[in-house]
Amino acid sequence: MELRRREVLVAGTLLAAAIRFPAFAQSAPALPRQHAERIARLIAAMSVEEKLGQMTQVAGGRQVALNSRLDAAALDRVRAGRIGSFLHVAGGEPLRELQRVAVEESPHGIPLLFAMDVVHGYRTIFPVPLALAASFDPAVAEEAARVAAIEAAVSGLHWTFAPMIDIARDARWGRVVEGAGEDPYLGARIAVAQVQGFQTADLAGRDAVLACAKHLGAYGAGMGGRDYDTADVSERTLREVYLQPFRAVAAAGVGTMMTAFNDLAGVPTTGNADLVRGILRDEWNYQGLVVSDWNAVSELIDHGAASTPAEAAALALRASVDMDMTSDTYAEHLGTALANDPTLLPLVDQAVGRILATKARLGLFDDPYRFGDAVRERTVLGSADHRAKARRAAERSLVLLRNEGGVLPLTAGARVALVGALADDARSTLGSWKARGVQEDSVTLRTAMGDVTYAPGVAPRSDDEAGIPAAVTAAQNADVVVLVLGEDFDHSGEARSRADITLPGPQMALIAALREVGKPIVVVLMNGRPLALEAALDGIPAVLETWFAGNEAGPAIADALYGRVNPAGRLPMGMPRTSGQLPLFYAHPPTGRPANPDLAVDSARYHDTDIGPLFAFGHGLGYASFTYADLALDTHLDGQKARYTVGCTITNDGRVAGDEVVQLYIRAPAAGLARPERELRGFVRVPLDSGQTRRVSFTLTSDQFAHWDDDGWQVAPGRVDLMIGASSADIRLTGALAVPQAYALPADAVAGAALATPVTVS
Ligand code: BGC
Repeated sequence: MELRRREVLVAGTLLAAAIRFPAFAQSAPALPRQHAERIARLIAAMSVEEKLGQMTQVAGGRQVALNSRLDAAALDRVRAGRIGSFLHVAGGEPLRELQRVAVEESPHGIPLLFAMDVVHGYRTIFPVPLALAASFDPAVAEEAARVAAIEAAVSGLHWTFAPMIDIARDARWGRVVEGAGEDPYLGARIAVAQVQGFQTADLAGRDAVLACAKHLGAYGAGMGGRDYDTADVSERTLREVYLQPFRAVAAAGVGTMMTAFNDLAGVPTTGNADLVRGILRDEWNYQGLVVSDWNAVSELIDHGAASTPAEAAALALRASVDMDMTSDTYAEHLGTALANDPTLLPLVDQAVGRILATKARLGLFDDPYRFGDAVRERTVLGSADHRAKARRAAERSLVLLRNEGGVLPLTAGARVALVGALADDARSTLGSWKARGVQEDSVTLRTAMGDVTYAPGVAPRSDDEAGIPAAVTAAQNADVVVLVLGEDFDHSGEARSRADITLPGPQMALIAALREVGKPIVVVLMNGRPLALEAALDGIPAVLETWFAGNEAGPAIADALYGRVNPAGRLPMGMPRTSGQLPLFYAHPPTGRPANPDLAVDSARYHDTDIGPLFAFGHGLGYASFTYADLALDTHLDGQKARYTVGCTITNDGRVAGDEVVQLYIRAPAAGLARPERELRGFVRVPLDSGQTRRVSFTLTSDQFAHWDDDGWQVAPGRVDLMIGASSADIRLTGALAVPQAYALPADAVAGAALATPVTVS
């Protein structure tokens, strides 16, 4: 697919252009003059090899053995100025020494950038990103990133490869655990919050780290949910869905981005000049550093897009990839490409300029050691304050999917049988990326539940069914069974796609045996993806989704089970009934033959499964209940645009205090197009005491109704349907607005789902 480039710079200007320093991204502060001058002087003085060195990121260790590759050869490369950045390194002391070599012994004394995947915690581990998104509370995602940044920075790190902001609509993809789910509006809000948490308002501040929005393009659209696989989406879907979180964080000043491994309609992203140089740089004016994914520059050859390493290097450079993560293709082969084609040299200078500007913006030229502090490291990592924040995040990420007959909360004094190996699997609480988290820091559900009968039953990764009889006995002697089911931490994550996302191992046999006992069963789910559980949950009255909830998983879940915490998380991805329904998402066009319950009618559905998901996007219950009323709409014309306020009241008519996540969906017009039946354009998590009523008010603009067509972002005139409710499938209030006239938005506009809807609660 050839993407339409709305050129802001024509190619000639681009090649001739000197490095553009001033702005990093639209909202980033301009680089101070002395830095811009220093960078220009450095670029003039550096050899080509040294420039390619800055564009090279080397693995200083492995994810499971940080710093293990910092040997004499690596130090020699640093001394020669042939490395710009290391990843998989950490620790205040070792990184100080490494930085000293760069600053004191390399030709120009340029400081190194130290990077690592600090995803949902560094030492203090928070719930996995999908769980943080389930809080439907961007402040929770921001706080998790803040704590991770504080801990990572004190350990000498400058840069985290997070957040992952890929939209994912196929839960077979193992990396759904790392993102915020299926929806571009929720995804954009969570992404911006994470970037703010990592970077703060001042990147040069002591506790800030650079964020990296990844993986630019349509990595989440890999076919069949297979990791690394080709994506083939229309430009409309790319712009309206997959790119929207990237657009939002570019506008919010994210310091770096990473290109995806996969190809988009045959063009590998790391060599995709239309996407990276065209859309990201030229259209959006993004000035931050772009890094490839691991070995992705050399993998351009495996894709078949380049036939030699020099061609691969030139392709990635032309696409505007500034830094080569680990493949050494820039270091070893870009020189050949430059010799063949000197017009590439200005592109090298631009890339080096962006890398040095990033270092300057972090304050590394002022104090290359400013981050790491081996003494503070001892008190900051895993502090009581960080643990308390992790606990709160865990509580807020829990989603009560079902609660029939008031089985939950458990009554104090009830005899509980706790069953399932995951209930005592500390490693799995950490999820797939754990940075320097250790399982010894985690409190499991078994520990947190204290004095209950525990029977492991079966584990998700073993065929051993020998524990089932003991689990049955425990259930027979109990009033209620808390049955922990799901996946372990290694069933999801990178390269962990699964074709069948039902319960792995002999867990179905365990459920069958326990059903026979006849006691009420509460299922506690632990998993990194929505699972396909229609059959597994058949007849189960209560289900609590807990994801991998981090170090404080056990206490948070136990509190929710006993009602000390009132769960109010919502699903950031719908849960399918069966794997065969995937991909599945709520923001779907209606089709000409909408799914019909009557199988005699030919309609868009499967004959062998019910229509729609088992639990919809946005679904989640609690121990209170809420009513919605008094929808009020207001339109203010503002030139060709319109601004709207949409208000309603929410009342907690339950007996306990609780949070309601109020969700605003739209259906926007677009002549001649089938538009999604529902698109999220606002949400807020509102705490309400029992009996309390509060008023929620959303402020929309007509730019949020824009759709993408061949001429760019267009806002169509006509009726916009509004739906306010408790989930995408539980709409309580409806109304309509009007867009008075058609208009087009400029190429660099932030439109549609990328725009935030301000909300007030009174
Ligand atoms: C992943 C990235 C990650 C990088 C460095 C790659 O395999 O796709 O998300 O940041 O490794 O660890």
